Amino acid sequence: MRLPEGGALLSSKRSVKQSGGADKHSFAQRGLLLVLAAGALATSAAGSGAGHAGKVAAVCWLGSVVYIWLWIGKDRRERFFKKCEAVATIMKNYLDGCQVSQLPANKIDSRGPLKEGLPPLSILPDPPAWVRKAAEERTGTGYALRVNRAFRRCGLLKDEGERIEVISVQSGPAAARVTVSLPDGLRLTRLQHMTSDLASAFGVESLQVTPGMHAGSASLIIAYKNRLPVVLRTILESEEFEEFLGRSELPMVVGVNDIGEPIMIDLVSVRHLLVAGTTGSGKSWFINEVLVTLLLSRGPDVLSLVLIDPKRVELSQYRGFPHTITVATETAQAVAALESLVKEMERRYTIFEQAGVKNIQQYWQRTGDRSIGYIVGVIDELADLMSTARKEVEVLIQRLTQLARAAGIHMIVATQRPSVDVITGVIKSNLPSRVVFQLISGPDYRTVLNVDQDLKLRGKGDGVALLEGHAGLVRFQSPGIGANDNDADLAVSKIKDFWVNSGHKTNPVHIAEAAVEGREQHNTAGETGENSKLRAAPGPDMVRLPDFPEVSGELPGGESIEYGNPPEAESEEIRKFKIIMAQAWQDAVEAEMDQITAPSIRSLRERMNIKQERVMELIDLLIREGWIQAPPVPKKPYLIVAGENTLKNYL
Ligand SMILES: Nc1ncnc2c1ncn2[C@@H]1O[C@H](COP(=O)(O)OP(=O)(O)OP(=O)(O)O)[C@@H](O)[C@H]1O
Ligand SMILES: [Mg+2]
Repeated sequence: MRLPEGGALLSSKRSVKQSGGADKHSFAQRGLLLVLAAGALATSAAGSGAGHAGKVAAVCWLGSVVYIWLWIGKDRRERFFKKCEAVATIMKNYLDGCQVSQLPANKIDSRGPLKEGLPPLSILPDPPAWVRKAAEERTGTGYALRVNRAFRRCGLLKDEGERIEVISVQSGPAAARVTVSLPDGLRLTRLQHMTSDLASAFGVESLQVTPGMHAGSASLIIAYKNRLPVVLRTILESEEFEEFLGRSELPMVVGVNDIGEPIMIDLVSVRHLLVAGTTGSGKSWFINEVLVTLLLSRGPDVLSLVLIDPKRVELSQYRGFPHTITVATETAQAVAALESLVKEMERRYTIFEQAGVKNIQQYWQRTGDRSIGYIVGVIDELADLMSTARKEVEVLIQRLTQLARAAGIHMIVATQRPSVDVITGVIKSNLPSRVVFQLISGPDYRTVLNVDQDLKLRGKGDGVALLEGHAGLVRFQSPGIGANDNDADLAVSKIKDFWVNSGHKTNPVHIAEAAVEGREQHNTAGETGENSKLRAAPGPDMVRLPDFPEVSGELPGGESIEYGNPPEAESEEIRKFKIIMAQAWQDAVEAEMDQITAPSIRSLRERMNIKQERVMELIDLLIREGWIQAPPVPKKPYLIVAGENTLKNYL
């Protein structure tokens, strides 16, 4: 079957979005109106030839069309146009001669809420027209022609009638993956030796050839010179996100990779997140899209926010959300907010102890009590805080990042300066998951990511991520909520209106008075009495909130619940790997070596009796856990940096 080239998430979405509801005079709309007009003319013509009864039928027909048209509403009309447009694209590609193996995996459009009771996605802005246009140009038509022309120019097609079939095209902000099926006798290795010729024949800067997913196929990865921005709505409307929402607790969109595949994580499974990047690199935009994603996915009964914004302007728009406990802007408030989080964590641990459970998920499962929800704490600019209250802040962040996860408290900490005076060893080792935007120099990347290269990120949301539970670095483009700050602010205020009017119950969270600055009186219509708002009673200590239900000694059991992708547990294999590292450390200490280095990859492979890829995965894991560090010079052994006490546990 011949279908559109845009076989992937964003490619097809964009080509559909390109002609979405924003363009009132799109091809589909004009076509449809033409059909309606023709229908009306034909009916009235038939009616005029059929006497009085025919005329009445024609008028009724016209009246019903107009009535249905008005009745279905703007949103449905736009959705209908989009579907028409998708069909038009299919026809266009059919005529272009492009073969695609499968339909786009994602839905054409949802526009409704992600789930019943959540704000509708139509609150978010559509991609701007120029982005839709550029995306369509990249994904739309013409690849079949271009591939065949380039292959012929490179002498890869012998006979006149021989043709290369394009199986699918997947396009993202930085590249397109065009998968083609190779004719008999044309081998992948031959193509791989000819990448420069193919790039020149395509007229692009760089091109890579990789094996395709099907036998006898190859993928051409064509890099674009300019990166395209991505908007959040495109990702949230995808089926991938909808499915992810169902199996994650605190869903977050990191961005899309070069060819447009979404990168999504559950904040619960990565514990906490460190966001680094020079000024203007996209940290605040990232934090904003993360908060908006959370606010579109979780109600205030499940999620509370503690926001620390020393710059005062980045997070103020979240005041007034029923989710928001506080937006602290002064150093004293920020320290008090962090202290409150630590105390809330301790309070929860006491409750868990009484209930005989280890963490929040087990607590919910055993007691059925959901009055303790998740709290996400955000610090947008750690450097500012560290410069004014380093001692207190470091200790508090250390406590939270070490212990708060089990209590359902997760931190997102952003900083411009990844230098060791801001990201101290203590903070770094407790924030193993990192999102990094453009940094000033290679050494900065090393501080945050332990990689020995200048990644040359381009700013404006171009980033790399190192995520707990995921091997290696992944490059991504983070989405903006809209094309500019105004669009984003408007969307945030609409989401706020939605929640304020929703009548959702807010979760009681302890917060110290000192952390509260002009706290909003939340309009939580569903609440009454003591529960009706977050309280800040006078006094330096925690405020007394409603007691938690008493939990009897005998607790109902239950199936274990899967929460996202839990980080790799300490298996026998990991333990053995750590024992080898600890022994290497002990040998080096006894031999009074200057540098304590890990055994070579080869030696690790042989001693563990595993493949090199698995060794590299375990090395990645140990880097994330702060056990080892990448060598300062390439091709040298890794350095063992874990503390003496940790290492001695494995001897
Ligand atoms: N994901 C993105 N897509 C497109 N443009 C972006 C993106 N992220 C940032 N930008 C652009 O870069 C500008 C600066 O971004 P942002 O305010 O997030 O930087 P920052 O890293 O927080 O800087 P600072 O450290 O100075 O606060 C934005 O106003 C926007 O124009
Ligand atoms: Mg910022």
